[in-house]
Amino acid sequence: MTSKEIRNQFIQFFRDKDHKFVRSAGVVPFDDPTLLFTNAGMNQFKGIFLGNENVDHPRAVNSQKCIRVSGKHNDLEEVGKDTYHHTFFEMLGNWSFGDYYKAEAITWAWELFTDVWKIPKDKLYATVYQDDDEAFDLWKSQTDIMPEHILRFGAKDNFWEMGETGPCGPCSELHVDIGGDSVIAGSDPDRGVNTDNPRFMELWNLVFIQYNRDEEGELSELPHKHVDTGAGFERIVAYLQGKDSNYETDLFIPILEKIADISGVAYKRDDRGMPHRVIADHLRMLTFSITDGALPANDGRGYVLRRILRRAARFGRNLGMTKPFISELVPTLVEVMGEAFPEIAERCDYVQRVIRAEEESFSVTLDRGIQIFNGLASELQGSGKNTIPGEDVFKLYDTYGFPVDLTRLMAEEQELAIDEEGFEQQMDAQREQARSQHRFKQSGSGENEWIVLREGKDSTFLGYTHAQADAHILRYRSEEDGYVVVLDRTPFYAESGGQVGDTGLLLGPEFRAVVTDTQKEGDSYLHFVKVEQGELSGEPLMAEVDESRRNAIRRNHSATHLLNAALRNVLGDHVKQSGSLVNDVHLRFDFNHFEKVTAQDLREIERQVNHQIRQNNTTLVLRLDFDHAREEGALAFFGEKYGDEVRTVKFGDYSHELCGGIHVHASGDIGYFRIQSESSIASGVRRIEAITGRAAEEQAREEREIVDQLRNLLKMDSADLVQKIDDAFQERRRLEKELKQQKLQSTTSNLDNILDKSVDIEGISVLIDSISVSNMEELKQVADELVLKIGSGVGVLGTVIEEAPYVVCTVTEDVIAGKKLKAGDIVRELGARLGGGGGGKPHMATAGGKDAEKLEEVLAEVPEIIRGMLA
Ligand code: SER
Repeated sequence: MTSKEIRNQFIQFFRDKDHKFVRSAGVVPFDDPTLLFTNAGMNQFKGIFLGNENVDHPRAVNSQKCIRVSGKHNDLEEVGKDTYHHTFFEMLGNWSFGDYYKAEAITWAWELFTDVWKIPKDKLYATVYQDDDEAFDLWKSQTDIMPEHILRFGAKDNFWEMGETGPCGPCSELHVDIGGDSVIAGSDPDRGVNTDNPRFMELWNLVFIQYNRDEEGELSELPHKHVDTGAGFERIVAYLQGKDSNYETDLFIPILEKIADISGVAYKRDDRGMPHRVIADHLRMLTFSITDGALPANDGRGYVLRRILRRAARFGRNLGMTKPFISELVPTLVEVMGEAFPEIAERCDYVQRVIRAEEESFSVTLDRGIQIFNGLASELQGSGKNTIPGEDVFKLYDTYGFPVDLTRLMAEEQELAIDEEGFEQQMDAQREQARSQHRFKQSGSGENEWIVLREGKDSTFLGYTHAQADAHILRYRSEEDGYVVVLDRTPFYAESGGQVGDTGLLLGPEFRAVVTDTQKEGDSYLHFVKVEQGELSGEPLMAEVDESRRNAIRRNHSATHLLNAALRNVLGDHVKQSGSLVNDVHLRFDFNHFEKVTAQDLREIERQVNHQIRQNNTTLVLRLDFDHAREEGALAFFGEKYGDEVRTVKFGDYSHELCGGIHVHASGDIGYFRIQSESSIASGVRRIEAITGRAAEEQAREEREIVDQLRNLLKMDSADLVQKIDDAFQERRRLEKELKQQKLQSTTSNLDNILDKSVDIEGISVLIDSISVSNMEELKQVADELVLKIGSGVGVLGTVIEEAPYVVCTVTEDVIAGKKLKAGDIVRELGARLGGGGGGKPHMATAGGKDAEKLEEVLAEVPEIIRGMLA
């Protein structure tokens, strides 16, 4: 059976039991700050479990893309060492949202395993949570599992939690005995199920979700009980294909072969194959996460990608691969998994470019880092020590980009340890330094209790058609300087999909409150308000959106869609949205593209958008089934989580996107579109900022006024303005140069007049004077001239430049030789007296000071200084 068949059979089995197939959510969670990556099939249903979101179908089935590299579920350090840990894997799952519970979950799991997949019953073990008699009895009564194969375990093994907080509950797992030479009972507490003995493999986890864990760690009962099951797809494929390693299934073999092909090193099942396994695993993690919108970076999620990529690159070195190679493996992965997950096929080219750029940049420091590491290792081993100091680990991290887990792994290979504590201290010091630069987004803390004024369904959204509506407050809670209010119905748009939340007023019979922002929490719309008069009450009120602000927002939002289409037309289909912000002032659109957009292309993009505005196409809003929308070519922004029925927004044949935002009625309403800037925000990601409507008109007017002023000033037509200004600048540069030369000439010709001011000091002719120059360069040029004119002697010239005193001194060669006088010595003395300093060569030196008023006095002291030096 191929992996594709196995995946399809699982899905079909539950479809036949009235489950609805739900697409895998992206691996980059949308809207869940508690998670870096999607780590379980149930993540996308969290809101349903918590009772915050409604559900249109109470049973679901899917195959979810999961990543476990951080937080509560983290398998990174095991990857490659064994045959079954992965950073990225697929999880098959079936769900009941307040519908069926333990009995059906257990019965169906047994039926699929033993009837459909024919797993021998005597090889299967079921575990239950220690107190869960109900599950224990159900295994006994509903299935024909061997009763002694039902085992009880504690919370570590049989209580499942998504993370530090969130939905959770007791679970029941199915394990299979894959056999082996020794005869062990699965219930042997030392060597059986749940003892990390690879002979007993966990295949399926049935979680009975009934609690939520809050930030204090407290459990509370959920309003309904749910079922959340998860079966590790790769393990099931391995078992059903008769393999004892996930890496020997059709999911991995083509990738391992490709790695062998590129490196010339054949894959081996034992330790020698570890680099192949790590690279294959990491390739999957990187491809899926980049496809779903993550990018390598220096912190957070992006740093996880960077770590993974660097580990893979380093294992490539172990196979002798010194050039970027990970990117070359992406198409092979697409061949294996592109049918089940078409998004990786669509973004293959993009993913390759991102990986390649990152590989290239690490390559520079990787070899040097390896060299340093090897040096350290042999030094330690030579001196009989076995711990790499924290400072060195930090240096490898900070200077050579070696994530600590990579250094740890390389240390392990040489049977060395690393000084984790020392490393952490260094990191702490660095964090401390960075702390002041970090910003944290404060959101509604939710600490305060809701005050409920009315019961009933909340937040019916009317904003697509209305800017005003009568409504009631259902509940509110106090927040720092104001309240959060939930209404039964609302015209206020809550921030989402890049569009900011609406602002406006809530007007009650006895109160007036200003809405400063609107946000979503689950399906509820939270209005952040400041009460200006009276007190909030459950009486009917009028909710009024600030319409002129909203109109500015909708113009910018619709223009964003036209811009997205124009970018794809002009730059190519590889352009994908990677983020956006739409507010009443401007719009910001981030997209994937690898070069600067040329001025010519920007002009064309702006032209197309304005052309579409003039086409004045009526905005068509459709509600389509997701797949239908994609067939129609509607663009989906990958970061979002879409329900099954999606809303799409269409402008003629030019633009069609999935979008929940508020738009103009016809493209002509946008009025006018102007690009403000184009810039790079990360490797491969560009940003365009633009304005529309009144803001664009205002800006055009301001610019025209500037041109008019220039025209009046220069007394000419705008057509010739640029040429004229350019000519004027050139002329100015020419004149400045000429002026400078003339000044110099006149100063040097004046030198003749001052030569006769020379005085004789012990047989040396010394000239002291002050002159006027505009900069140091000129002062030196004058001094050069002076030397020529004096013939033999010393010259000291003082000047004031920008209110500071300067002196230059020249001494002719004969005086230097005969009298041992040096210009450098003289100016040092003068500089000190002027409150500054100076120096230079024996024949020419300069000094500067602070006090210009002292210049004359100091110049008068020169003869005495020289006499002192001759003595
Ligand atoms: N959430 C459970 C797990 O991840 C079952 O789906 O194992």
